[in-house]
Amino acid sequence: MLIEAASPLDLEIAVLAASPADGAARIWPQVQIGSPDDAEAVTRFAARCDVVTFDHELVPEGVLTRLERDAVVLAPSAETMRIAQNKQFQRELFSTARLPQPAFATCRDLQEARAATFELGFPVMIKAAQGGYDGRGVWQVDSEDQLAAIAQGCVERGITMVIEEQVPLDRELAIQVARDRAGNLAVYPVVETIQADGICRQINFARGTNLPEATEIAVRIAELVDLTGLLAVELFESNGRLLINEIATRPHNTGHYTIEAITTSQFEQHLRAVLKLPLGSTEPIADAAVTVNVLGGADGGDPADRVAAALSVSGAHVHLYGKTQRPGRKLGHVTVLGTAIAECADRAWSAVELLVGEPRPEFAR
Ligand SMILES: Nc1ncnc2c1ncn2[C@@H]1O[C@H](COP(=O)(O)OP(=O)(O)OP(=O)(O)O)[C@@H](O)[C@H]1O
Ligand SMILES: [Mg+2]
Repeated sequence: MLIEAASPLDLEIAVLAASPADGAARIWPQVQIGSPDDAEAVTRFAARCDVVTFDHELVPEGVLTRLERDAVVLAPSAETMRIAQNKQFQRELFSTARLPQPAFATCRDLQEARAATFELGFPVMIKAAQGGYDGRGVWQVDSEDQLAAIAQGCVERGITMVIEEQVPLDRELAIQVARDRAGNLAVYPVVETIQADGICRQINFARGTNLPEATEIAVRIAELVDLTGLLAVELFESNGRLLINEIATRPHNTGHYTIEAITTSQFEQHLRAVLKLPLGSTEPIADAAVTVNVLGGADGGDPADRVAAALSVSGAHVHLYGKTQRPGRKLGHVTVLGTAIAECADRAWSAVELLVGEPRPEFAR
């Protein structure tokens, strides 16, 4: 999706992809195959770039610092990526900055985990400080037995745990903001996100949903991490208060709606910010938009074989990422623009049902 945004601007892009089967590698000729944690591969790749940016958090901190020492321009910087890669560092940074978030503790063994849950009270959320995504690496824990099992597993695998109070959720929100090297900002609207089983399923945008506090938090974080590029902040609304869940310093799933619904997509904006181009307008194009993620269905069918059916849904913007289908894996998304969320959601889910071969989940009915 970054390449799709770069193409009309005639930007020269090269991609480091772990495998020729990766989405970006399949659509772009300028690709080097190499693992993001292979220092030699990353260094060789960076040598041909004026600017290196990221669409994941998988390049190890040590490799990033070495690149910067060798005068490679990273955007975001190695220090920003260090924070983005680690939920513990995020929590500590926000705590120092007195930004609102759930109570938490960092734990390295069962004893520390027990002490932390004693303070926080069950239920708690245990999170792997590093390496989790789509709910993998996040566990809801409501008993001593569960705590022992999860903590033991983490200790065995050398995983540092961030243990958080489980806050009551009125709803979950997300917001994007871009910041360029000069400190200029472009702020996107706040959107509502709906998760099931720890995975984001649906994103709702409505024009005029104004939440100044969310904007303030996003801008504070962008400045705090000295961001160059795009930032997404996941937020909880809990008993009417906003709390930070986590951040990503790159284009993010919760901002996919911007491709069709906002004047400048998050992908184009990220490129503008990291390439010293003027930031673009974040003015909405529609009154409402809904994005629904396409997760691999239980029947094992490939959504790519069902595109024709989904395109029969009027106004459905279908994006498939070219990934191998696996039940529950995020394979794409569908966005529908309109005048009200309910109508957009209904049409987006109609298209997703046809792609996945399953009825929509209960919460979407
Ligand atoms: N402290 C908390 N209190 C209540 N619910 C929580 C808490 N932390 C996480 N959750 C729930 O679990 C979901 C996943 O958590 P989190 O965003 O940390 O995991 P993740 O695997 O990094 O997610 P993703 O990669 O999908 O963004 C959240 O969206 C929220 O629904
Ligand atoms: Mg999350």
